[in-house]
Amino acid sequence: MARFWLAGVEGVDMTVVTLRPARPEDMAAIRGLIRRSRINPTGLKWERFVVAEIGGQFAGCGQLKPHSDGTLELASIAVETPFRGQGLAAEIIHHLLGQAPRPLYLNCRSGLQGFYEKFGFRVMSVDEMPASQKRLFRLARALMKLFAQKETLLIMALET
Ligand SMILES: CC(C)(COP(=O)(O)OP(=O)(O)OC[C@H]1O[C@@H](n2cnc3c(N)ncnc32)[C@H](O)[C@@H]1OP(=O)(O)O)[C@@H](O)C(=O)NCCC(=O)NCCS
Repeated sequence: MARFWLAGVEGVDMTVVTLRPARPEDMAAIRGLIRRSRINPTGLKWERFVVAEIGGQFAGCGQLKPHSDGTLELASIAVETPFRGQGLAAEIIHHLLGQAPRPLYLNCRSGLQGFYEKFGFRVMSVDEMPASQKRLFRLARALMKLFAQKETLLIMALET
């Protein structure tokens, strides 16, 4: 468990933030946040998650998701709206990166490229992608085209 201070949450000067392993009873809050955030709702197993709490209240989450090809993905990074823009996602990501082997992969919409580059991730070409991420990339690209989305899906990797 890690504790740190987060400055600037509205109405609170300095708020204690706790990062802890998820428990079975966190699943409803995790599923709700993932659904409202409109990110991938598959593969949500509480055992893999870290949860951020502010004043005992669920505030965000993230996980390391294993794939059948042996690769690991940084996934389900999400923060409840009132707590965004305060560095909470960065704390969750740094915490998970501290536990993860390299290379570590992620997939995200193209608007988040700059966000993940701050942590050292770089965009991969199709040729470089491991099988699990290539499958996901092709499926997502087809769906985004079908629904005429402006953004694309990116596969990114952290190698060191
Ligand atoms: C994306 C998300 C997790 C960011 O959470 P957050 O707690 O607001 O992020 P942080 O405050 O830790 O931001 C860390 C840094 O990234 C930057 N950043 C935040 N959102 C960004 C975005 N959409 N694009 C580019 N940079 C971004 C911040 O400005 C900050 O930069 P700084 O360190 O130079 O100040 C949050 O907006 C969210 O939950 N979105 C919905 C779910 C989602 O899209 N998750 C990503 C799945 S791939």
